[in-house]
Amino acid sequence: MADFSFVQITDHHLLESEDSLREGFCPGHAMRMVMRHISENVADKTDFIISTGDLVEPDTDATYQGALKLLGIDSSTALPGPQHVNIEGLKDFPMYFLPGNHDKRDMFTRYLFPDSKPVNLYNFSFEHKGAQFVFMDWGQESKAHLFPETKEFLAKALKADMPSVIVCHQHVKKIGSRWLDNFLADNLDEFWDVVLPNKEKVLGILCGHVHITYEDEHGGVPIYGLRSTAYPFARTDDPLVILAAPHYRFVRIEDGILISRIYKVSI
Ligand SMILES: [Fe+2]
Repeated sequence: MADFSFVQITDHHLLESEDSLREGFCPGHAMRMVMRHISENVADKTDFIISTGDLVEPDTDATYQGALKLLGIDSSTALPGPQHVNIEGLKDFPMYFLPGNHDKRDMFTRYLFPDSKPVNLYNFSFEHKGAQFVFMDWGQESKAHLFPETKEFLAKALKADMPSVIVCHQHVKKIGSRWLDNFLADNLDEFWDVVLPNKEKVLGILCGHVHITYEDEHGGVPIYGLRSTAYPFARTDDPLVILAAPHYRFVRIEDGILISRIYKVSI
């Protein structure tokens, strides 16, 4: 396996236009500043960007059109991508998009992957420089659910004789916030029943959804969460939005180990 790097960003909650506000936050401007920071600081050593979902909110024709315009996506690609973005110095830069609970799958596919047939569950795997990326889908609701189809997909993917990075929208372990942890799948144990026997192969699990940056592990498998580019939550029992700079995660796969650092973006 060759060494390489990529970037994770998450939970963009983009509105119709770049300067639209949500509760005083400007998700479009924040996204632009994150992409500028990536372009100026890490793009030259980054193979691709992965967005772990909630591209827009609400999911309407206008918000998806606004997102495509902001990101400079003017070409089509087959699922699962990568798409190519043109923004803030990034030219035709490869970027993968996973849907979040705010991205209804039919509309998400229609805008991001117009040449592909919409799928209900975004379960895809692909190889990059000897590592397997496993994009898995916990469904379209805030509360995750491990669907039998996804479980089967995951089990099959992890049979591959390759180190794997699991990427998904919803989180996979309690983070210590009552309202967010209520969104964990009731059948989460079934997920770990599939992952843990293969833990030597799993380099890490990257998630979004909770809008909070954290690092944890379960049974020796590293878990990484990430702050939203739009609006961060506090780790409180009830919803609380806080003022804090967006994060992105620079991930390096080196000598078969996943290491990462967080970049904070001043806006
Ligand atoms: Fe979100």
